[in-house]
Amino acid sequence: MKYLVTGSSGFIGYHLSRRLINEGIEVTGIDNMNSYYDVTLKESRLRNLISHDNFKFIRSDLAEMEDLKKIFMSEKFDYVVNLAAQPGVRYSITNPEVSIRSNINAFFNLLECCKMYDVKSLLFASSSSVYGNSPKVPSSIKDNVDHPISLYAATKKANELMAYTYHHLYNIPVTGLRFFTVYGPWGRPDMAYYKFALNIMKGIPIEVYNKGDMERDFTYIDDVTESVYRLLMKNTGSDYRLFNIGGENPVNLLYFIETLEKILGNKAEIILKEIHTCDVKRTHADS
Ligand SMILES: NC(=O)c1ccc[n+]([C@@H]2O[C@H](COP(=O)([O-])OP(=O)(O)OC[C@H]3O[C@@H](n4cnc5c(N)ncnc54)[C@H](O)[C@@H]3O)[C@@H](O)[C@H]2O)c1
Repeated sequence: MKYLVTGSSGFIGYHLSRRLINEGIEVTGIDNMNSYYDVTLKESRLRNLISHDNFKFIRSDLAEMEDLKKIFMSEKFDYVVNLAAQPGVRYSITNPEVSIRSNINAFFNLLECCKMYDVKSLLFASSSSVYGNSPKVPSSIKDNVDHPISLYAATKKANELMAYTYHHLYNIPVTGLRFFTVYGPWGRPDMAYYKFALNIMKGIPIEVYNKGDMERDFTYIDDVTESVYRLLMKNTGSDYRLFNIGGENPVNLLYFIETLEKILGNKAEIILKEIHTCDVKRTHADS
């Protein structure tokens, strides 16, 4: 059985690829190695993967349909896991065209290839951001998610709808996962836990939004890869499945900063900022 993992040089894609190859599964990773954050981190993750015989890497942009078709034709994937995307809520406001290219055009190309090349199932990353500022917590997959407050969230919700349509029309089994603030080793330098830790260590001020009245349901990377692995192994035939993948234990932003201060032995210099209209105040998963 052959797996395609897209975004394999990214944070979650790297960990999942490692998990799959350690289980003896044959994995092909695709990544365009873009410079949204430090490329040397992506290169280091990739170096760890290509040292395994059952891992093959193809550098390619999923938004390039002709290239993707050639890859699908020659590689003959059984299963596809889509973890490539342009993350970043704020980034989707300042660079909307990049988010559309990597989250919508690329996703459409992938769906088309799954259809054309008889892929057995597709699993893809959605996001807790689809819940927007819904007052109902914890967030359940049964909740209405028609009010995304950033373009990033809208692309994720659009992915869920597009995937459903391909499942309905072409009988492709699909699993969508709404991840909640994933953290851990080899993590993303653009995320708050990483930026805050670095700035506190260096004595650089940190920007705290909404006077710190924010909460995030952090989810440890090993729990994410374990969930994805079990869902991949538990093949349910022809379903369309959606799951929240979250720690179910929201942490207040100020408590989070105090904890970092204690562990790093440095006081944070805090600049209080108004909340941005694209920021979600709290996330809390009903898993
Ligand atoms: N990390 C989180 O907390 C979190 C939370 C919710 C959802 N997600 C989603 O999970 C998935 C993985 O996130 P991550 O944290 O590993 O992000 P990441 O940025 O570390 O990984 C994404 C990878 O995809 C690659 N990529 C982007 N566009 C591409 C394209 N057009 N073609 C080929 N490769 C491309 C990037 O180079 C990168 O290596 C994403 O879909 C993200 O939106 C992540």
